Amino acid sequence: MYEFHPYFTNDGSVGLYSSCANDIYHSATGALTEAYEKFVYPVNFEKLLTKDKIKILDICYGIGYNTKSVLNFILQNFILQNNYAPIYTDNVNRVKYNAATDTDNIFSKISITTVDNDKILYFLSPFIKTGNKNIKNQKIDFDYEKIYKFLQQDQKVKKLKINKIVNFAILEKIIEKSPEIFETEQFSKILYNKSYTDFFSSDIKALFKFYQSERLNNTSNLYKPLNLHNIYYKYISNRYKKQLKTYKLQDFNFEYKNMDARKMILKDSNLYNLIFLDAFTPTKSPCLWSVEFFKQLFAHLQDDGVLLTYSTSAAVRGAMIEAGFCIGNIYNERLEKFTGTIASKNSNTIKYQLSEFDFGLLKTKAGIPYRDKNLNAENEAIITARNFEVKNSDKISSSMYIKNSKTL
Ligand SMILES: C[S@@+](CC[C@H](N)C(=O)[O-])C[C@H]1O[C@@H](n2cnc3c(N)ncnc32)[C@H](O)[C@@H]1O
Repeated sequence: MYEFHPYFTNDGSVGLYSSCANDIYHSATGALTEAYEKFVYPVNFEKLLTKDKIKILDICYGIGYNTKSVLNFILQNFILQNNYAPIYTDNVNRVKYNAATDTDNIFSKISITTVDNDKILYFLSPFIKTGNKNIKNQKIDFDYEKIYKFLQQDQKVKKLKINKIVNFAILEKIIEKSPEIFETEQFSKILYNKSYTDFFSSDIKALFKFYQSERLNNTSNLYKPLNLHNIYYKYISNRYKKQLKTYKLQDFNFEYKNMDARKMILKDSNLYNLIFLDAFTPTKSPCLWSVEFFKQLFAHLQDDGVLLTYSTSAAVRGAMIEAGFCIGNIYNERLEKFTGTIASKNSNTIKYQLSEFDFGLLKTKAGIPYRDKNLNAENEAIITARNFEVKNSDKISSSMYIKNSKTL
């Protein structure tokens, strides 16, 4: 049976727990906050948006916070706030953009490729509600105690919200590309399950129901008059469509690959400006943190592109370096500390270099990377092989290294 375990994170967005991986998909502090802090704020969008084409790869799309955060950020900062003024001025290229008049639309330049091996989450992604004010978590159907301590940690985090039209745009893309959404029972069982009502946007859900009934009407030869309910949702749908058209939001290209990210990357021929890597932790999902996988990501990155991830693990950083990347820290202004890793082909694109101590740590046993020679090994096998390598290595342990550094 498909498992779905939602809870509210402190910023009012929904987080998920995976009993299979015994891991949380999102930071309990704030799922949306985390997406912004790891994948949006470290990027210089002013500069990026001067390019003719912007390609983004979102690895481990899940319920889509990273993709939605990018779209929402651009909508809020480059379109909505300056709707009738020159929105975007770059000092170097003097690019100006005006949403009201410009045909060179920002969104038409953006192409987002997403990959995840869980299609149900992809279908659920546009319905996930953000900005919930009442975030009281009731004990539902999973061991919520495990995340309870996280939820207590940081109550001061701001409430964040994704604009509804971003979710609406994604729903439209999904319906267009994957019409089987209407027939996917596992998905509709979750969407219409009463215990999950609070986690889904009632508007987007009602619109989906409306499309579903429209679809049924269209496939039937019998004439069915629109009822009042349908007229209302037709009105809302047209209103959202008008907004999408005004902001040209629907012009972005969106691809979803429902497969193992390793298979996807081997088939892919794109060069990306941004790669987001949001896999479960290396100890749960080492196959997406191996040297060989990073070599593929290196080959799929533009010369001035960046790869971003929340992981600061020495094994991950060791793998990135072995794959050829220059790496640095992601600085979190709210927490005033480093909370992730940025990798690129060019050290000039890196603002916060690793310290000497960080580099030293990569030379310890902790920095021994995961390996997956043919990009098809099972996670357990990858872990066993690394444990063996660590055990037989004559490198010093990270604890000894840390102890020695303190006494220096
Ligand atoms: C930490 S969650 C990602 C959260 C996501 N970015 C979001 O905004 O909801 C990890 C995701 O990795 C996916 N996943 C696990 N192994 C995978 C693999 N080998 N290839 C592709 N996706 C994988 C899971 O289905 C899950 O959605």
